[in-house]
Amino acid sequence: MLLAYGGGSIKKNGIYDTILEQFSKAGLAFAELSGIQPNPRIESVEEGIKLYRENGCDFILAVGGGSTLDACKAIAAGVKYDGPASDLFVNESGVSPIVAAAPLATILTMAGTGSELDMGAVITVGEDHKKKVVMHPLLNPRFSILDPEYTYTVPEHHSMAGVADILCHLMEQYFTPDANAKVQDRMNEGVMKVVLEDAPKILANPKDYDARANIMWASSMALAGFQFVLGKPMFPFPLHGMGHELSSKYDMTHGVTLALLTPAWMRHTMSAAPEHLPVFARFARNVLDIREEDDAKAAEDGVKKLRAFYSAIKMPANLREAGVKEEDLEVMAEKAVENGNLGILTSIGKDEALQIMRAAF
Ligand code: NZQ
Ligand code: ZN
Repeated sequence: MLLAYGGGSIKKNGIYDTILEQFSKAGLAFAELSGIQPNPRIESVEEGIKLYRENGCDFILAVGGGSTLDACKAIAAGVKYDGPASDLFVNESGVSPIVAAAPLATILTMAGTGSELDMGAVITVGEDHKKKVVMHPLLNPRFSILDPEYTYTVPEHHSMAGVADILCHLMEQYFTPDANAKVQDRMNEGVMKVVLEDAPKILANPKDYDARANIMWASSMALAGFQFVLGKPMFPFPLHGMGHELSSKYDMTHGVTLALLTPAWMRHTMSAAPEHLPVFARFARNVLDIREEDDAKAAEDGVKKLRAFYSAIKMPANLREAGVKEEDLEVMAEKAVENGNLGILTSIGKDEALQIMRAAF
């Protein structure tokens, strides 16, 4: 077995000791991969592949947040692949080269990415720290243990960034051309409402079991099988495409990048594609309880209320406040679309990405 974890939070909060106790009771031998960083690097994946092979492992247990889980998914694919780990990414046409993977299970210690219940991973690679996707159904964890108490010690910044990530996964699937996918959309709205309601409870009391449990389950539900986008066209998530560039350039926390860009992206889309205003108005009414009959006004009130939520959960107000330099925007906009335009309500190329980033600045 390969036991993998991040920078050591599991040693401070006792989860590591609990696991080792169980391993000892079960007589399980294991090798350890530690030090997986947020925005995990391909070097950790390579180290994990080597350790797995050298120690004759047959199973991977990932303990941590999305970064550890993602690195382990790439390791699971890498140990069954006879070539460099950098070959494992999904190509420009969305095709995955993966044909086999080692079995993987997870113990989730922070809510946000949904990696515990999905088949994807995001790995940082190369000198420009590009974030690339590894994806295959074989990478779905065999099981994931979700104990809300394990998330009590997550620092406030990361707890709230996780909330922003969950919300964005739900929004990326919601803001699609209206396909009359009522079940998907009403379920999605319900989960979004829970996230908005319970995030402030965690801020007030990090040991609020019910709030931690609801946010943790929302994290898993948000991306599970892309259930909220079923029946709708699949497309590159625009906010994630742009947000990853902020992480590449500044090593910024994933969820924070999304909170920073979302209001600007909403306003851009509402103005570039006014035919989709009803979707934004419906979001404002059904999720944010805006009572306004005019679609354009309701949609704008929705953006304002969402911004107020981000500020209540202590996300930075704009890119400048988050430490971004204006002169970097153009390169980031270019890189965000280097594998093709993003989005579906509007097509986002370099110019549009730059407009959105400038508006978020
Ligand atoms: O490394 P340790 O010491 O464990 O500390 C971590 C890290 O510093 C800490 N932490 C986690 N659980 C803790 C804790 N600290 C105290 N107590 C606990 N119980 O939190 C920090 C952040 O951890 P990280 O794993 O980086 O956070 P997150 O879960 O937000 O993962 C982010 C990564 O996931 C990718 C992102 O791009 C980013 O690289 N994503 C993965 C997705 C997927 N697989 O489907 C989808 C997402 O959209 C996202 O792109
Ligand atoms: Zn995300």
